[in-house]
Amino acid sequence: MIGKNKGRMTKDGIRIYEEADFAGMAAAGKLAAQILDEVAELVTVGQTTGVIDKFIEDRVTAAGAISATIGYKGYKHASCISINHVVCHGIPGDKKLKDGDIVNIDVTVIVDGWFGDTSRMYVAGKLSRKTERLLQVTHDALFKGIEAVKPGNTFGDIGAAIQTFVEGHRMSVVRDFCGHGLGRVFHAPPNVVHYGRPGTGAVLEPGMLFTIEPMVNLGRPETKVLADDWTAVTRDKSLSAQFEHSIGVTETGYEIFTLSPAGKYHPTYEL
Ligand code: MF3
Ligand code: CO
Ligand code: CO
Repeated sequence: MIGKNKGRMTKDGIRIYEEADFAGMAAAGKLAAQILDEVAELVTVGQTTGVIDKFIEDRVTAAGAISATIGYKGYKHASCISINHVVCHGIPGDKKLKDGDIVNIDVTVIVDGWFGDTSRMYVAGKLSRKTERLLQVTHDALFKGIEAVKPGNTFGDIGAAIQTFVEGHRMSVVRDFCGHGLGRVFHAPPNVVHYGRPGTGAVLEPGMLFTIEPMVNLGRPETKVLADDWTAVTRDKSLSAQFEHSIGVTETGYEIFTLSPAGKYHPTYEL
């Protein structure tokens, strides 16, 4: 609609937001990250994922925000909670966490129309060595991708940085799910894939807003979706981890909107 939205669209269909829009994204991202900070102490042996989700839903409401996932394509919960070999889109419920379970919690909130989407890993009980490595590599892979974000680089540079790093550690990158443009909408172009070749794909420009959210498996990359139509698992049942940030491209590089206010993004921060 002419005059209604000043945001330009690139030839790849990627919206270019205004500098002033970054403040809206920062507010939404901060709330999502703060909720992920607060939920950490609930991730304990014997806890149910349903209780964790209820806490998140209440927290979103108390902040005067809206959950982006409740009602999204029929999804009914304020978070996705993905345990062990669940790659993403795990549905919260009565399942109790066991000692050594690794857990991804993914929260998306809407604040004043802006979307903040972030996830990170947690551990119930004691973390094994092998698993600690998976979490470390997945966390660091996200940051390899983020460090490739600057005007003039391409989306292929982001994917290549992540893939090279992960495969260098003899782990695999999931191909079936990707990051996405966001802003005033939840999922917009482009598909931000976490593999690829340098120099390919759309060129990054200041004002682009998107997530990077690599899923890394200890075994093979293939996934399948269970009969509930949401839960994605590794086909070989190997463990899977994921970290996600919402970011914006600036004149010189990037801004991360979903940094942990408490500095608790990394799962082994207290070990
Ligand atoms: N937050 C997820 C993402 O990173 C999407 C979850 S959609 C849901 O894109 F419906 F499963 F919640
Ligand atoms: Co996302
Ligand atoms: Co998410």
